[in-house]
Amino acid sequence: MSQQNLESLDVEAIREAFPILEREFDGEQVVYLDNAATTQTPDPVVDAMSNYYREYNANVHRGIHHLSQEASIAYEEAHDRVADFIGADGREEIVFTKNTTEAENLIAYAWGLNELGPDDEIVLTEMEHHASLVTWQQIGKRTGADVEYIRVTEDGRLDMDHAREVITDDTAMLSAVHVSNTLGTVNPVSELADIAHEHDALAFIDGAQAVPNRPVDVDAIDADFYAFSGHKMAGPTGIGALYGKQELLEEMEPYLYGGGMIRKVTFEDSSWDDLPWKFEPGTPQIAEAVGLVAAIDWLEELGMERIQAHEEELTRYAYEQLAAEPDVEIYGPGPGPERAGLVGFNVDSVHAHDLASIMNDHAVAIRAGDHCTQPLHDKLGVAASARASFYVYNTKDEVDKLVAAIDDARQLFS
Ligand code: ALA
Repeated sequence: MSQQNLESLDVEAIREAFPILEREFDGEQVVYLDNAATTQTPDPVVDAMSNYYREYNANVHRGIHHLSQEASIAYEEAHDRVADFIGADGREEIVFTKNTTEAENLIAYAWGLNELGPDDEIVLTEMEHHASLVTWQQIGKRTGADVEYIRVTEDGRLDMDHAREVITDDTAMLSAVHVSNTLGTVNPVSELADIAHEHDALAFIDGAQAVPNRPVDVDAIDADFYAFSGHKMAGPTGIGALYGKQELLEEMEPYLYGGGMIRKVTFEDSSWDDLPWKFEPGTPQIAEAVGLVAAIDWLEELGMERIQAHEEELTRYAYEQLAAEPDVEIYGPGPGPERAGLVGFNVDSVHAHDLASIMNDHAVAIRAGDHCTQPLHDKLGVAASARASFYVYNTKDEVDKLVAAIDDARQLFS
């Protein structure tokens, strides 16, 4: 992506919507580079949520009073907005969940437990987040289905030849991350979905690290299921979305039961409401749905292509700065369209946790650890890595502060 695109995102103006970025610790202004864990929340999102609580807080679906009607309309229309944002056909295909992990569990329990057996295979990738890896592993144990993994190459990409070997007519479900939260790799998810479909398998794509920073079209990918979280895309915590093809969601049994998801209940039996309410029992995340819509409006105002360009440019800059350090090992593909906005790395003489701690002394916030990808770290031969991840408000100056903090850590530990 071009420098011109990067300049077209007005980062200075964007930062004004995030008072938290003004915070100082021991006289140093925070440099927030932990966006893959959670992004900061702009004022319009906070305002939309407090406006909901101030002006039209009520329970949804069940009231005939004005406030409930307003809340119900906002909540229901939030599904339409999310559908439109990711290219789904309509609200029937969008189920609100707590987060991406809950979306994985919903499909694993509602579909996997009923459909899988000892003759079936579940195919994952070696770069799966625990949200999918642990979930499908457990479903495999309970159903007898085998779990296979598509290999990750030395340079942090999926081995697509291996994908073609591992996905067979026995495969019932393929679950793959769109963007790796550890390597930054942007996976060819449309190709993966095509391979799965050639074998009559379903494709679940975990979009937690993709939807925040690039245009996503579930229809173009031809994903059967796709999930993401609000808090990684300038929205609130506590809400995520599961996309599912309508005919698949229609066939599935509910995952959770209770009020709000039923059509008729007798002492003997119950029947289910229409999509998507069948999968949303109990009082849902109403304020969070309002916040998610505000986040989508805010991101679309910036432009998803420009956000992607900004992240690619910053990531290229960070990658090049870090690669110039002789004792830094970077994981994942080189800069470019195959790498999203994060860089995972280790410094030879400094443990990732120590590095994060020294960074914190300079108010630079990064994540250190296994990033919920322990098996991938085993494969990389390290227990932990440091990770800097970027969003719309980050600048090259902040990347320079990251690199300066590494120098400081190196001197302290050498
Ligand atoms: N999955 C989130 C991360 O990678 C929490 O940090």
